[in-house]
Amino acid sequence: MELEGKHILSTKQFDPESLTALFELTTKMEVILEKGESDILSDKILAVLFFEPSTRTRFSFESAMQRLGGKVISNAQMMETSSIQKLESLEDTGKVISQMVDVVVMRHPESGSVTKLSQKSKVPVINAGDGSSEHPTQGLLDLYTIWKEKGGLDGLTVGIIGDLKYGRVPHSQCDLLRHFDVKFVFVSPEELALPREIIDELRSRHREIRVSENLEGTIPDMDVISMTRIQKERFESEKEYEKYAGMYILDEKLMAKAKEDAIVIHPLPRVDEIDVEVDKDKRAKYFEQVKNGVAIRMALLSMVLGVEI
Ligand code: NCD
Repeated sequence: MELEGKHILSTKQFDPESLTALFELTTKMEVILEKGESDILSDKILAVLFFEPSTRTRFSFESAMQRLGGKVISNAQMMETSSIQKLESLEDTGKVISQMVDVVVMRHPESGSVTKLSQKSKVPVINAGDGSSEHPTQGLLDLYTIWKEKGGLDGLTVGIIGDLKYGRVPHSQCDLLRHFDVKFVFVSPEELALPREIIDELRSRHREIRVSENLEGTIPDMDVISMTRIQKERFESEKEYEKYAGMYILDEKLMAKAKEDAIVIHPLPRVDEIDVEVDKDKRAKYFEQVKNGVAIRMALLSMVLGVEI
């Protein structure tokens, strides 16, 4: 897949060949990261528009751009401080900003909002999370982490645990993993189960799926333990959220039941779903995963900007 000049809005744009190409370029970006930096994007400017809180994703994109010598204009409080306050539409915002920069990264609480802005942008727009819909670059870095740690994706049993209804990360992970011979174990309260259409898509590909509310009973089968946070900000009330808060906590006792060579990933931030004592377990990969995120975003930025290394 040729990404030059394209928006990255959805994981649906990727297939196994384009994923392999992306992962190979990401491996080269890791070498650049080890050396320090490069200047291949020195004549490019990235605009970062965040309408929703973030620590990792925003810094990760900004770090990726700067590691490749590019420049960054960033606003983490678009909702409060941009002309959106003066009722400017997302379409006009896209049209205006794309006159000034070479690439745009955006996060917004509404599903479909990044697509809306991209429609009037003449430069590539990358989705850094739109509501509970998708988070393509997180899904890509999660798959890269699994690919790197496990030497591939086929044949693995992947457990995805937590808020599978509102979590955009599980949605993106499933959409990318559907291309591989993976067995899925979905662990969530029934009310926070994966949307029907995602399950149907996996079934249409004859993927083996197990659905459970019980982490203790299913963890021994998992090669990948993908934990997610209950998405507090998507619930109608605090009371509703409280019903599920603290429901799954991965601790040393549960880790004792997991495979010796399993890996634990998490997009972070965590609340309490992974006990800090698990951080020292060699199977915990969630902090290394953050570094993989910078490398994957370096690869994606250079691809959409059409700059080869
Ligand atoms: C995720 C997100 O924003 O969807 N965080 C991230 O980008 N690393 C996961 C989450 O907030 O639970």
